[in-house]
Amino acid sequence: MSSSSPTSSSAPCAVRLRGLEARDRGALEALIRGTQMFYAPEVDVALELIDLGLKPGGGGYEFVVAEREGLAVGYACWGLNPMSDGVHDLYWIAVDRALQKAGIGRALLAHVEARVRAAAGRTLMIETGGKPSYQPTRSFYLACGYLEVARLEDFYRVGDDKLVFAKKLAP
Ligand SMILES: CC(C)(COP(=O)(O)OP(=O)(O)OC[C@H]1O[C@@H](n2cnc3c(N)ncnc32)[C@H](O)[C@@H]1OP(=O)(O)O)[C@@H](O)C(=O)NCCC(=O)NCCS
Repeated sequence: MSSSSPTSSSAPCAVRLRGLEARDRGALEALIRGTQMFYAPEVDVALELIDLGLKPGGGGYEFVVAEREGLAVGYACWGLNPMSDGVHDLYWIAVDRALQKAGIGRALLAHVEARVRAAAGRTLMIETGGKPSYQPTRSFYLACGYLEVARLEDFYRVGDDKLVFAKKLAP
């Protein structure tokens, strides 16, 4: 992905939003592990998507990276659900643990929404966990205007539901 945008003015912690680059891989791996939110297989999947995103064409996965002082400090990955005519899935979003709650996640998600709208997408869907440690993540999605539209009990683990959040991006 080659798009970039100027430094985000909505983020109190100023970042530059740009496409994924090969030099980001190490920083993103450290960032993902550093959130302490993901099971090992989830980290593997996140890295697989990054590797696919770095290949020519990106494998259908779109990325935006938040860069600060030359280093990737956050990113989001999304793509069109190929079985729909305009529903996009947010596959991943993460911000450096030390820089969370500073507006970077909101800036990343707003960028994703703008890109989905520009691609004539109508809805952005997000799957997340229902366990207590994901409460801040759920608060983030709610604060960004997402609604819980489905819940699959005990999906990830017994006591850890899968929640589906969605936001309509077209009238
Ligand atoms: C979820 C995540 C991407 C949010 O990014 P962030 O940069 O911390 O979020 P922002 O600072 O942009 O917060 C935007 C809003 O979300 C809400 N929010 C964010 N973090 C929150 C927290 N810990 N508790 C409560 N609300 C929170 C706030 O209402 C905030 O609004 P404000 O700007 O009025 O304060 C980030 O915390 C993260 O990487 N978490 C770990 C990984 C993860 O859970 N990824 C998603 C997997 S499904």
